[in-house]
Formats: sequence, structure tokens, C-alpha cells
Amino acid sequence: MLDQNLKKFPKDFLWGASTSAYQVEGANHEDGKGDSCQDVKELPKGTAPLDVCADHYHHYREDIQLMAEMGFKTYRFSIAWTRILPNGIGDVNQKGIDHYNDVINTCLQYNIEPLVTMFHFDMPNALDEKGSWSNPESVDWFENYARVLFENFGDRVKYWLTINEQNMLTLVGPMIGTLRIPEGTKNVVKETYQQNHHMLVAQAKAMVLCHQMCPSAKIGPAPNISLVYPASCKPEDILAAQEFNAIRNWLYLDMAVYGRYNNLVWRYLEEHDATPSFAPGDKEALAEAHPDFIGFNYYNTATVKRAGLDVKKDEHADQQKGLSEPGYCEAVDNPNLVKTQFGWEIDPLGFRATMREIYSRYHLPMIVTENGLGAYDKLEDGKVHDDYRIAYLKAHIEQVKLAITDGVEMMGYCPWSALDLVSTHEGIRKRYGFIYVDTSDEEVGSLKRYRKDSFYWYKKVIASNGEDL
Ligand code: BG6
Repeated sequence: MLDQNLKKFPKDFLWGASTSAYQVEGANHEDGKGDSCQDVKELPKGTAPLDVCADHYHHYREDIQLMAEMGFKTYRFSIAWTRILPNGIGDVNQKGIDHYNDVINTCLQYNIEPLVTMFHFDMPNALDEKGSWSNPESVDWFENYARVLFENFGDRVKYWLTINEQNMLTLVGPMIGTLRIPEGTKNVVKETYQQNHHMLVAQAKAMVLCHQMCPSAKIGPAPNISLVYPASCKPEDILAAQEFNAIRNWLYLDMAVYGRYNNLVWRYLEEHDATPSFAPGDKEALAEAHPDFIGFNYYNTATVKRAGLDVKKDEHADQQKGLSEPGYCEAVDNPNLVKTQFGWEIDPLGFRATMREIYSRYHLPMIVTENGLGAYDKLEDGKVHDDYRIAYLKAHIEQVKLAITDGVEMMGYCPWSALDLVSTHEGIRKRYGFIYVDTSDEEVGSLKRYRKDSFYWYKKVIASNGEDL
């Protein structure tokens, strides 16, 4: 394509940015909050504990004001299940409700649409002890939690996201500090995909409930989608890429949108004697649910080659690198791409390819719920010159514009992250924010907020509705 005469971003395009409760809030033992699996996990060596993070719990008004200064139209944040229901089920914690009421009202005061993730990697520990997602009751626990959210916040929240990156919970759960595999489990694949099945049904029920209780609200999933490239044009590699695309990406969206298992994934599960058991009513629940839009996180693409059973899983694999599947494919580096300081490939064109592919499969409006660059930022004289982040975001926003020109319906763009926060497994030294937070992995700092260069740049991008990059 000549890529001339590019279309403009829609007038009501939702520019914003994202955070998640356990990575940004801190205050994890305050105001009646119960422990989540994140609060009790063993932290990766040398990374900041989660009791302070960016202390957003106490600074949210100041932070939202800074977001308003950037011109945000939306703020994607997650609600900590354990602030609302400290034990996951049972008594509601009014202080938790009050807190998020104020977060939502503060957003609205600045004309910022709250985009609320219901679950972002933080299973209540009390439910973890009852087996977490491996317990079939987890479907009811989540539906009950969803009901409390819709009852309390449904009058003001128009956009909901169900489960953040369910595919990463399933594929790299231990790295993120989630996914509990009971000791002595013989068939780990079967156990993992049974848990995954419970999450899929829980999500479906939450979507149906949202439509019943909040008819004017919109709800969608938020998987991490990376288009998978074949390492070469060898037919074997093409097949391997198709299979890994299904396992990594399409399983989650096929189920959310069409309510059925992807056939290649089903075959994978059969091969591992790991097809999930369906409880009575699951099939109907999955078929009944329909998202209004697709939220998805994009950091980069993946590249695989065909591989046999001798391929070992990389123990350092994480969301964006090293994911291999013995008997199917092996992750390889893409020689055409450069990497971030943390070893994640950078692929803006792959972003356009990913958006096109998702849209051609599902034909639903889409919002980017994460995209961004983790880097070692340096605060000098109150300034952070993060031109590398600006370059990354600019290159990706250009691709959103191209995708819109391709006819893809894009509703919004929320990079990761609004402000610095603690990474899933690499500490707060891996910074993503537009707003620098003065704290480190070694010690809690002043927590003072500083506007990075990217802050001013993004403000200009939003003010020009994406024309001035
Ligand atoms: C996504 C998650 O996988 O990527 C976020 O939804 C996470 O929670 C983000 O922080 C960046 O990953 P990381 O590992 O650098 O924190």
C-alpha cells in the first residue's frame, strides 16, 4: 500500500493510559484490604515490595489531575478485588467502595472516562487458599464480585474490561506471581487449561451480567495479543506459527466473541489429554456472552519455528519473550527487530499487522489497553529526557493511524503506563510512565511526581487528536 491520504483519528477517540491496582496503589494493608496473591508471593530478587509502589492509593487525586493536564479522555485502572471483598467473597468493605467511588468521581470531574479492569493479576489470597481458579466455584466467586462492582459503580462506569491478560496468566502465570498449580498435579497442562476454562466461563457470565445490570455500559476482554510470525517461509514454520497464534492469541478472543474453543487449541488439548471438563450450563454461558469491543495489550510480535518435543520451555520466558511450546514451536529472535533495554523486541509495524488481523477475525471496535516501553529512566534536575519512549510511542501511534486508514475500527489508545509503577517481575527500575515517581527498588523515596519529556509530548499529541506526533 502507498499509505497516502491517511484518515484522521475519530473525534471521540479515547486517548489515555493505564495502570493496575497491585502495581501502582501500595497501601496493601490499609482500610480493610485483604491480601491478594501478589501480597503474599515471594518477590523477585531486588525488586520493590508492593506495600508502597507509586502510592497511588494516597496520591490518586494529584495523579488524575496530572492526567487531566495531559488531556486524557480516559484512564484505565483496575479495581483490587480485595479492597472490595477482603476475602474474595462475603462481606463488602465499604472503605474500598468509597475509595473507588472517589477515584471514579475524580476522573469524571475532569471529563475523563473511567475504563475499569475488574481483575488484573490479583486473586484474593483467601480464594487462592481455596484452590483459586482450579476450584469450579471460582466462576461464582467472580460473578459475585462482578455484581458488587456493577451495583456500586455501574451508574458511572461506561467501559469495563474483564480479566487482564488471561492468556498470560495461563502461559506465564508463575512468572507473574499468579496461577496456583496444586502440589502433586500429574498433568499440569490439563490443570492449567481447566483453570483457564473457569476463567473463560467467569468472564462470559460477567459480560452477560454487565449487559443485564448496566444496559448502557460496554464490556470487553483484555488479552495480550502478539501476532506470531513464522521464522521462515518453510511450510513447517507457517504451520507452527498458525498453531502458536491459536494457543497464544485466538483461543481467548474466539471464546470471548464466538463462545467456542479454537479448533487448533482443542487439538492441542486433546494431544495433551487436557481437554477441560464442562460443568452443566458452561456451553450455554459461553455462547450467550458477547463483548461490545475488544481491548488488547500489545508490546511486540513473536516469532517461532517448528520444533519437536526436545524443545525445552525457557524458564525466563515472560509475556513478550521466549515462549516455546514443546512439540509445536520454538521461540526465536526476529533479526529484523531491535530490543528494549529489557530484551523485548520492538515492532511498530507488527502492531498494525496485529490490529488488522484481530479486526479481520472479529469485526468489533478495538481499544489498545496497553503498549509502551519499559526503560531505566534518569531524573536529572527534576527532568526526565525520555526521547526513546517518545520515539517508541510515536512509531506505534503512527501505526494506529495506518490501521484506521486500513478500515480498522479503533476506539482508543491507552499506553502502559500513566505513571511509573512496579513491573510484574522486574521492579520499579523498569519504568513506563509519563509521570516519574521518585522511588526505587532499594528504598521508598519522596514519591514526588515529575513530568517527563514524554508527558509534554503526549499532551501535544492528544491536543491535536493524534495529528501532531
Ligand atoms: C502486561 C501487564 O503484561 O505488561 C502489566 O498487563 C505489565 O501488568 C505490563 O506491567 C508490562 O510488563 P512488565 O513485565 O514489564 O511489568
